[in-house]
This record gives sequence, C-alpha cells and structure tokens, in this order.
Amino acid sequence: MKAQENVLPIEGSSRVIARQERRIGGILAERGKLGASDIERVLELQQGKGLRFGEAALRAGLITEDDLRSALAKQFDFPQLLPGNDGVSTELVVAYEPSHPRAEELRALRTQLLFRWSSTEASQRVLAIVSPGPGEGRSYVVANLAVLFSQLGERTLLIDADLRAPRQHRIFNLPNRIGLSAVLSDRADRGAVIPLPNIGTLSILPAGAPPPNPQELLSRHALGILLEGLRAEFDVILFDTPPARHYADAQSVAFRAGSVMVLARKDHTRLADAAGVIRELGDTGIRVIGTVLNRF
Ligand SMILES: Nc1ncnc2c1ncn2[C@@H]1O[C@H](COP(=O)(O)OP(=O)(O)O)[C@@H](O)[C@H]1O
Ligand SMILES: [Mg+2]
Repeated sequence: MKAQENVLPIEGSSRVIARQERRIGGILAERGKLGASDIERVLELQQGKGLRFGEAALRAGLITEDDLRSALAKQFDFPQLLPGNDGVSTELVVAYEPSHPRAEELRALRTQLLFRWSSTEASQRVLAIVSPGPGEGRSYVVANLAVLFSQLGERTLLIDADLRAPRQHRIFNLPNRIGLSAVLSDRADRGAVIPLPNIGTLSILPAGAPPPNPQELLSRHALGILLEGLRAEFDVILFDTPPARHYADAQSVAFRAGSVMVLARKDHTRLADAAGVIRELGDTGIRVIGTVLNRF
C-alpha cells in the first residue's frame, strides 16, 4: 500500500480532451461568442460528426478562425496576438504566428541564451543586442526575444537604446514622447516604462524624443543607476542599440549591460566588421555571450 501512495492518478486521454473541450466552450461563452443555445447546437454537431468542440463551432458558422485561435491561446495560457491587434507590428512573429518557422528559430535562440545564462545570477540577465551596421535585424530580433522571454513568464524589459533611429515604439505601437532620453537627462523617471499586459509579462522603455547628444547621454552614470533599480524588478532586461560601427553608443550600452549578443546579417554584414565589433567589446571586458547569424 505504501508504495502506492506516490502513484499519480492517470486520466484517460479522452477524459482530458473532453475537459479541454469544455474549457474552450467556456472561454468562447465568456467572451460572448457563444450563447447557451449555440453551445447546445455545437455539442449536437460535435457528437453527430465526432468533431472537436472548436471545429464544430467553426463549421456551424458560430465563430471565426480568429475566435478559435484566440480562445486556444487563452486555453493554453499563451497570449497570442491577432492581426491588427492594437496596431502592434506583425514583425512580432513569435506573438502572431508562434508556429511559423521563423518563430521556431527565435525560440531556439532563446533556449541558447537561457542555457548560457543558467550559471549566472538572475540579476545578471541583462543583454545588449549589437551589430555593426543598419538594417541587420537588431530591432527585429530583440523585440521577438523580449516577447519570447515574457511568454515564459519572465518579467522582461526591453529598453530601446537606439536614440538615433529608434524603432521599438513603432513595433509595439507606443507613444515615443517620453522614454530613455528623458530618463537619462533627468526629465522623467521609471514611470516612463510601459507595461504591455496584452502581450505578457513584458514592459518597454521606448527611446523617447531624439536628444542632440545620444553618445553623451548613454555614457552618463544615470544609465547605470537606472539599471540598478530595474534589475530588482525584472528577470530579463534587453537593449536595442544603434549600429556599433557608426557610433560608440552601442559600446556604452554594452558596458552597462555587461553582456552582449553580436548579430550579423548573412550576405550583408562584412565579416571584418563583425570581427571588429567583437574585438572592441572584448577589449573593454564586456562579455560576448554569443553571435547570431540573421538570415532573411
Ligand atoms: N530574421 C528576420 N526575418 C525577417 N525579417 C527580418 C529579420 N530580421 C530583420 N528583418 C527585417 O529587416 C528590416 C531591418 O531590421 P531591423 O531590425 O530594423 O534592423 P536594425 O535594427 O539592425 O537596423 C526590418 O524590416 C525587419 O522586419
Ligand atoms: Mg534598429
């Protein structure tokens, strides 16, 4: 008898499915997509044709594909965006199309990072994404990575430290009036960080109004002080940066972050440029956690 105390009851798979189906019905009802009589109709159709609840509701024309997709996302506790959602860019492939091959690749990158972080202190999960030139995909990759970490429930902050050509506010469709530039020049505080509960445990600090002196602002102590405060609130902090071969900004940000991921775009970034960036970072004692070849 004693041995059996630890045995977990195993539910038959059909019972598990039946329970999930009920939840999908419940989610659709809660959202006002299905009324009581609709549910009866769906159940009849479902039993008659041996369909899943969601499929049956679709066939009966009671819900749309999007309704079903978003109910499934909710069922698995996995926020998924639908096209047009809050004007958020479809570049966030991991939020819009989690099963897209691109999303798979980005998830593999997340896994690599988690693996490399496994031996570091949680408070040190601060990473700048750096690459030599423009148009290499820094903003795209860091935005998707931020969403991916938040999908794991990690309290994630993405800071747009590209004060020259900021793009995160566009990707996430946020105002860019107040952001990092104001915080660093003491005209705003931590309140400039915008939480995005629709996406998950993700917050963004946009770049803010373009300052005349980005390099000077980013080398101030203020950035270190800001980070110290934020480390306690977030599990993962990611930085977007301007092109490292053009400006010293990326170097300053990388120095504060402590670790960087260097990105190169396939058939675009010159190898010598990527090597140069890695060397310069290494020379200043910044940890290059990995390099990524972005192919698109
Ligand atoms: N892996 C990728 N897959 C598809 N499109 C990408 C990828 N990386 C970048 N892009 C696209 O390339 C363009 C430039 O990327 P961006 O992230 O703005 O570059 P950077 O920040 O390095 O200047 C954007 O339109 C972006 O959507
Ligand atoms: Mg960019």
